[in-house]
Amino acid sequence: MERLDALARHSDEPGKLTRLYLSAAHKTAAEELAGWMREAGLTVSIDALGTVVGRYESAIPGAPALLFGSHIDTVRDAGRYDGALGVIAGLVAVEELAKRHEKFPFAIEVVAFGDEEGVRFPTTLTSSRALAGNFDPAVLDACDAEGVSLRKALIAFGCDPAAIASVAKSREQVLAYVEVHIEQGPVLESSNLPVGVVTAINGVRRLTVAVTGEAGHAGTVPMRLRRDALAAAAEMVLAVERIANSLSNIMATIGRMEVFPCAVNVIPGSVQFTIDVRSPDDMHRDAATEEITRSIRKIAADRRVELSISTTHEAPATACSPVMIDALSRAIKNLGYATRLLPSGAGHDAMAIAKLCPVGMLFVRCAGGISHNPKEAISLQDADICVRILLEFLCNFKPA
Ligand code: GLV
Ligand code: MN
Ligand code: MN
Repeated sequence: MERLDALARHSDEPGKLTRLYLSAAHKTAAEELAGWMREAGLTVSIDALGTVVGRYESAIPGAPALLFGSHIDTVRDAGRYDGALGVIAGLVAVEELAKRHEKFPFAIEVVAFGDEEGVRFPTTLTSSRALAGNFDPAVLDACDAEGVSLRKALIAFGCDPAAIASVAKSREQVLAYVEVHIEQGPVLESSNLPVGVVTAINGVRRLTVAVTGEAGHAGTVPMRLRRDALAAAAEMVLAVERIANSLSNIMATIGRMEVFPCAVNVIPGSVQFTIDVRSPDDMHRDAATEEITRSIRKIAADRRVELSISTTHEAPATACSPVMIDALSRAIKNLGYATRLLPSGAGHDAMAIAKLCPVGMLFVRCAGGISHNPKEAISLQDADICVRILLEFLCNFKPA
């Protein structure tokens, strides 16, 4: 818990926790984490995407590895457990093994990805996708709000974009991936359980929408002659909410909007906003996205504004491996807790790693189900339980 507090001090914004991918705070957090890993006796590297990898060698040097990981980037004004908990839980488990001089016929690698939230760049999961051998080089040209490309940000962080291909692990190098994460929902708390096992992760599609009307004087342009981009965007926001409300299994969110030129006495000339659409069913998600697209096109046509829509991120719904679900459930049961299976509404690096190897996720109860919020909280006791479960899981883990 002290380490989670220490990591939370690495922030890009004073007074709150905001640690965006490849930012100065990401760099110092990665360095502090790498230091803890070295102290624990791990061999540490920071890969070409900024992922911190700490390897606890096997009794057989060079043996394939079991991965424990999650992410250390955050949303803006974040809580301190989303992502960081999975990295620190993995590290603490391995540290315990090192203290006991306990080795396995496989290595263990603790990985801290830097791009799970997708807040800085329009893309996301780039660091875990690269490890899984699925990096799309086109995303190197994606730019943040300041116009800095991912390529430039990587170089500034000290990474070599030319080395990205070498980050990919082969199937032979990796046995499985386990991600501990706060639940980010109320199910475990309301069931009075410290942990649960994830069955599947919702798929997501993210769009960026640009609405272009005409800027003009707030006092002189008659209301009926305006092409107000913000008024059009406002109608679009409500249409997205109405569509998502009318469908089952669909969540749609407009979380970011920029208004230009953004002045009290100027009719908004253009607006850019994001749409995040999620579902456990990819066909439902795509059908909802189509309905949303049709609806906002009609609003744009009726209001005589121009519209451009682009998809910036897509990740299909991902099932966790039945073998990993069983193995984590058994570890929970062996420690005397009831096992609870539950789906994940949030996205995780496990979605990207599932393309490489079997993945399993352990959810930890969080207070009030709150996340993406500084109020995010877990108990010391639950943190302890999740590390004990990882250790129990490890002792019984049999590479397939
Ligand atoms: C990550 O938290 C996501 O699901 O957007
Ligand atoms: Mn997360
Ligand atoms: Mn998150």
